[in-house]
Amino acid sequence: MNNNRIEDAKEHFAQILKTELARIEKIKEDKGFVDYTSMPKITIGIVGGDGIGPFIADQTQKVLEKILAEPLSQGKIEFKVVEGLTIENRVAKMQSIPDDVLAELKQCHVILKGPTTTPRKGDDMPNIESANVSMRRAFDLFANVRPVKVPEDNIDWVFFRENTEGEYILGSQGIDVTDDLAIDFKAITSQGAERIIRAAFEYAQKNNRKRVTVVTKANVIKTTDGKFLKVAQEIAKEYPDIACDDWYIDIMAAKLIDPSRRSDFEVMVMPNLYGDILTDQAAQLQGGVGTAGSANIGTKHAMFEAIHGSAPRMVDEGRAKYADPSSLIRAGVMMLEHIGYLKEARNLQMALEICGQYEKKYVLTGRNTGATNDQYTDYILETINNPSLAARYQEFTR
Ligand code: IPM
Ligand code: MG
Repeated sequence: MNNNRIEDAKEHFAQILKTELARIEKIKEDKGFVDYTSMPKITIGIVGGDGIGPFIADQTQKVLEKILAEPLSQGKIEFKVVEGLTIENRVAKMQSIPDDVLAELKQCHVILKGPTTTPRKGDDMPNIESANVSMRRAFDLFANVRPVKVPEDNIDWVFFRENTEGEYILGSQGIDVTDDLAIDFKAITSQGAERIIRAAFEYAQKNNRKRVTVVTKANVIKTTDGKFLKVAQEIAKEYPDIACDDWYIDIMAAKLIDPSRRSDFEVMVMPNLYGDILTDQAAQLQGGVGTAGSANIGTKHAMFEAIHGSAPRMVDEGRAKYADPSSLIRAGVMMLEHIGYLKEARNLQMALEICGQYEKKYVLTGRNTGATNDQYTDYILETINNPSLAARYQEFTR
């Protein structure tokens, strides 16, 4: 009996190895990043998602429509609302991203996405794959870039989380070898590690950052994390002006909340799961996951999202209109930067900081003790439209 189970597991493992080796060949064929600035028209997909997703996506679209009014009217940009990436539709079709939704997403150059619900094994829903994870994989969005800023504590971090490999890529392909033995897999490739680590160093170089910190658990997870670290050490040699150090994930988590050390960190790069955990922790220091935006970048596509989940409880309790849209609007800033609208990105970033961290004329509390998201986005727009935006920002940040 056990022998059969072992044979089945071996066969399953062999399939995984073939798929992974084929994926490596595809990465090798990649020809570099598309150039959005030379595109006659950029299509921005808007995906609501589940729970509070459609609410905060609407608000973000409202903000972007105002900021991009000119290129929209000139036909240089178009919005395309893509429906159907909801847990109900996904469960009905039994697909993580239903085929017709995926086909529509493929027509977009960049995607702005609200959070989508991910069923857990054991939930009373079919155990379909996370739409995030599928989308990252379908479009090969290997770089998950998550900035966290707390100016008063001198915190200015950018996390580069590997997004297509690690603990996640085979997350739904583990094996229950017997009733008692469960095995999951973690995969890291030289090519996959190289592209994310290089992205981190390139970012550091372009943005005049002096240090890149590599986060692994290479003392215990020796093979995969060991490879990640080794690749990082090799790439670091190509950037002699940038210091490179490495930390284990446990002590890194401690240092991020150590007031005497944390502002020393600048750019951090790490395998998938560590990045998932560390970025939630970091976002909490900034004011909660509701404040953090996230870019998922590949060479041909990019997707921008909030880092939090769909908060179905807020919808059930009638509180969706109090959900904080800042996370997705911040993702919108990253999208504007990515497609080359730098001035617009900068203005929106300043307005977000003025409204959320300095002036705070309206504050969101997630319930009726605070502003609604409609009020809040109007506040952001009013702040952007104020002709003295930059001067006011300087006043606040001086
Ligand atoms: C994130 C989220 C996702 C992840 C979930 C929803 C699958 O937590 O983007 O950090 O783990 O990557
Ligand atoms: Mg997460």
